[in-house]
Formats: sequence, structure tokens, C-alpha cells
Amino acid sequence: MQAAPLPAAAEESHPAEVAELLPRGELDQLAIEAETDKSSKRHDYMRFYEHLLTPYKEKSFSMLELGVGLPSRRAPSLRTWKAFFPKARIVGVDIKGISKTFEEDRIHIEIGDASKPKFLKRVFRSYQPSVILDDASHFWSHQIIGFQTLFPMLPPGGVYIVEDVHTSFLAQEEGSQYADHEESFWSYFSRLQAALVCSQRHGPELSKQENRLVSWIDSISISRRTVAVVKRQKIRRREVGRGEG
Ligand SMILES: C[S@@+](CC[C@H](N)C(=O)[O-])C[C@H]1O[C@@H](n2cnc3c(N)ncnc32)[C@H](O)[C@@H]1O
Repeated sequence: MQAAPLPAAAEESHPAEVAELLPRGELDQLAIEAETDKSSKRHDYMRFYEHLLTPYKEKSFSMLELGVGLPSRRAPSLRTWKAFFPKARIVGVDIKGISKTFEEDRIHIEIGDASKPKFLKRVFRSYQPSVILDDASHFWSHQIIGFQTLFPMLPPGGVYIVEDVHTSFLAQEEGSQYADHEESFWSYFSRLQAALVCSQRHGPELSKQENRLVSWIDSISISRRTVAVVKRQKIRRREVGRGEG
């Protein structure tokens, strides 16, 4: 069968315009100005996040970021989120006490260890975030603990992002500081992802806890070094109850 000719407008489209589906926009510009490494000058995460988080743009909500960053940059990512989301409350968590000095209007900072579920739960209960971003230690165990602890607490429609997932590929044998656990974050997350894509039929064996987490996942987006998970409006009941132990 002969394909119909493309309409004139489509014919003129250049592939570069297709890439503009995830353009570098306001969020990237704010990130460049604040000098966070999330901007296109470094990791180029922001065009991906702008696409993902624009539904929250004018909403009153709380956003929690684990990891405030170098004191010399004065909480650059928290200031970026504050500028991009005019009605949001931005909460940062860091293990370093000095981070507390970067609090300002609409920016709250809690000092503590993001690998401790009790601390994470306390912070969550205080601020009830709808968007959570883990950019703290990048240790395998911490990324897993953060997701296991906080994703279940998110409201429906909530978003959980884990950055710098490439650290999963820096091996224990090479002396990587990140490889502090028998399973990397990526390996753990890949099992959940496989279970999601097959609706938890014929997929990898999961524990009951992992199975329940998957039942709450609506979608997963992946880009370079970062993954984002959106929570379903309702748990998928028919998937609950599967799983080991
Ligand atoms: C990569 S920096 C964060 C950069 C910042 N989010 C940005 O985009 O500009 C990582 C931060 O995580 C903090 N950190 C490391 N281990 C931590 C832990 N166990 N709990 C909380 N914060 C931790 C470090 O002190 C550092 O400030």
C-alpha cells in the first residue's frame, strides 16, 4: 500500500521541532540563574521536570527535596522551585546543620538523616508534600529506603523523583561509596518497573511490600540519570495480595 503524502505543515517539520516536546523553558532558566546542577549547564533535568510538573505550577502544595546542596550556593534548587511554583511551600532536608540558615519565606529546612524512616515520616507528616525529589546521598540503600518510606505516604497524583540513578552502576568492587547495599536502586526499581508493565502477571517475584508499591504506581518516566513515579488515584486492588513474604 502506498502511504498518503504528508500534509504540507508536517512536511516542513524538522526533527529538531519534535525534540522541542521537552523544551528548555522557564524552569531551566531559573535553575541556571540559581546555579543548581539540575540545569542544562550540567545534568539537564529541568526540561524533563517542567514537562512532568507543570500541572502543579499554579497549585498550593508542598514539595519536599532531600538534599539542599553546597552551602556556597545557598540552596539553589529550593530557590528554583520557589520561583517556579509561586504558591508552593518548599521543604528541604539535609544532614548538614548549616542548611538551616537558608530558610526564607516559603522555604523550610529540616535537619536530619534522610536514610532514617522515622525522620522521613516525621517530615512528611509535618508538611504533607505532593512532590518529593531525592537528591541527597545517592547511596543505594538510602534511595531505596526513601522510596519505600515516602511513596506510600504520597497522595494520589503525587510524584516521586529519584536523581543521579547512574550511581547504581558504580560497582562495589570499584570501591564506590554509593554501593552500600546488596541491591542497587536501579536493580530494585527495575523489578518494580517490570512488574508494572506486565500488570504484575508473569513478572519478577516481588515481596508483599514491593507488590503493594507497584499496585499504587500509575506511571514511571525515565530520562538520563533520573526516574519519576506518579501515584495512582486508587490502589489497583486486583494486584494486591500477590507477592512473597
Ligand atoms: C547533590 S547535593 C544536593 C543538591 C541540591 N539538591 C541541588 O540540586 O542544588 C546533596 C546534599 O545531600 C546531603 N546529604 C548527604 N547525605 C545525606 C543524608 N543521609 N541525609 C540528608 N542529607 C544528606 C548533602 O549534605 C548535600 O547537601
